[in-house]
Amino acid sequence: MSQNLQRAFQPAMLGKLELRNRLIKAGTFEGKTPDGVPGDQLLNFHLGIAEGGIGMTTLAYCATESDGRLNDQMMFMHEGIRPQLTATLQKLQATGARVSGQMAHCGNFSKNRNLTRLKRPMGPSRQINMLGLPAGMPFAGAMTHPQIDEMVQTFYDAGVFMKSVGFDAIELHMGHGYGLSQFISPRTNKRNDEYGGSLVNRMRLPLRALEAVRKAVGDDFPVVAKISLMDGVRDGLQQNESVESAGMLDEAGIDGVITSGGTSSMNVMKMFRGPSIVHGMIEQEKNIIMKTGLKIMGPKMFRNYPYEELYFMEGAQQVRDRMKNAKLIYIGGCSTMESFEKVMSAGVDFVQLGRPLLADPAYANNAKAALDAGKSYRSGCTHCNRCVALIDSPGGIRCPELHGDESGRMN
Ligand SMILES: Cc1cc2nc3c(=O)[nH]c(=O)nc-3n(C[C@H](O)[C@H](O)[C@H](O)COP(=O)(O)O)c2cc1C
Ligand code: SF4
Repeated sequence: MSQNLQRAFQPAMLGKLELRNRLIKAGTFEGKTPDGVPGDQLLNFHLGIAEGGIGMTTLAYCATESDGRLNDQMMFMHEGIRPQLTATLQKLQATGARVSGQMAHCGNFSKNRNLTRLKRPMGPSRQINMLGLPAGMPFAGAMTHPQIDEMVQTFYDAGVFMKSVGFDAIELHMGHGYGLSQFISPRTNKRNDEYGGSLVNRMRLPLRALEAVRKAVGDDFPVVAKISLMDGVRDGLQQNESVESAGMLDEAGIDGVITSGGTSSMNVMKMFRGPSIVHGMIEQEKNIIMKTGLKIMGPKMFRNYPYEELYFMEGAQQVRDRMKNAKLIYIGGCSTMESFEKVMSAGVDFVQLGRPLLADPAYANNAKAALDAGKSYRSGCTHCNRCVALIDSPGGIRCPELHGDESGRMN
C-alpha cells in the first residue's frame, strides 16, 4: 500500500477531534425518522456504517427548527427528541466512530404544510416554490430583517442542542440550494439590501449562521461547512465565487469545508453525475400533479452528465489553495483505490463517501483489509443513482441495485 493510500486509513484530527481514519460518511438524508423521531431505523442504518469502520458518520437532516424541514418526517433539533437522539448517538459512538449532524434550514425549498413560526416558506427573495406546488404552497416570500435574525437564532439554538445531546461535530449545510445557499446564489438572491448583491453581502447570512453556531459550541468543537462549488445553472453561483466563499469561511474560523456542487432545487444531477433520477422519481411520486409535472419538465430539469471519478477534484483543489487553516474535505465520486490515492496525494484531509457506503456499509473495513492483503477493493456501487430516487419512499433510502429487493441490507 502506498504511503498516500495508508494516510486515508490512519487517525487524523478535525479541529480538536480525533477520527480513527480520514473517511467520513456523507450526509444522505435517510428518510428513517418517522414523524421526525429518531429510532431503530435510523440507528440500524448508521450502525452498519459505524461498525464498518468509518471515521465519522453524519446524520442528515438536522433542521435548525421545525420550519427548516422540507417535510415533517425530517428531524428538527428540539427537546422532544433528546432521549432518542442521545441513545442513538451513544450506541453509534460505542463502535469507535464519531458522529456528526448535518445542520440545515431549507429556506424556501419546502413542501412542509405544518409550518409553525412562518406562514409560508421564506427565502432571500420572492419566488415560485415548485416543490411546494402540490402541497398548496406555490409562493415563497422574501425574509424581512427580523426574520433573518430569527433564522440566525435557530442556528444558535440548534448548536447548543446538538452539542449538549452528544454530537461530536456539526456540518453546516451551505450548499445544494438549501436555505443558506439560497442567499449565496445570485440566481435565488435578488435582494438589494446588505444581504444581496456582492458576494460579501450574499455571504452575510451564512457567516452569521457560522458565528452563531461557533458561539453556541465554542472554539474546540468541530464545525465544518458543505458548500456547492457551483449551482449548475446559468446566472447561478459559479466556481470562482464559491472558492472565494470558502476563503471567507476559512477566515471566519471554520474547521473544514466540503466541496460539493449542484443544487437539489435546480440541477441535482450536477451533484451526482451518471444516469438521471427522473424516471425513478416519476415512479415513486404519489401526487398526480407532481407526477405529471415531472413527466413534462423532468427531462429538462434532470440533465445527464456522464459519471466520472473525482468529478469535483478541480474545484476542490482551488478551494485547497484558497484556504489557510481549514481542512479540505473532498466529496463526489471517490470510489476506487486509485481515487483515494489521488485525493490523498493532492493533500485532501478527509474524504466524504455517500453512495459507496450505501452499497457497502462496511466499505472502510473491507477496503483496509483488502489493502493490507495487497489487493484492491470496490464497494460494488455502480452509480446507477436508484438510491437517490428513493429518498421520499417508505422506509427511506437503500441500495436496490446491489441487493435486488425492497428490503435491502439496511433497514
Ligand atoms: C440517497 C442520497 C441522499 C442524499 N442526501 C443528502 C443530504 O441529505 N444532504 C446532503 O448534503 N447531500 C445529500 N446527498 C449527496 C451526498 O452527500 C453526496 O454529495 C453525493 O452522493 C456525492 O458523493 P458520492 O459520490 O460519494 O455518492 C445524498 C446522496 C444520496 C445518494
Ligand atoms: S442504488 Fe446502490 S449501486 Fe446504485 S448508486 Fe445507489 S448505492 Fe450505488
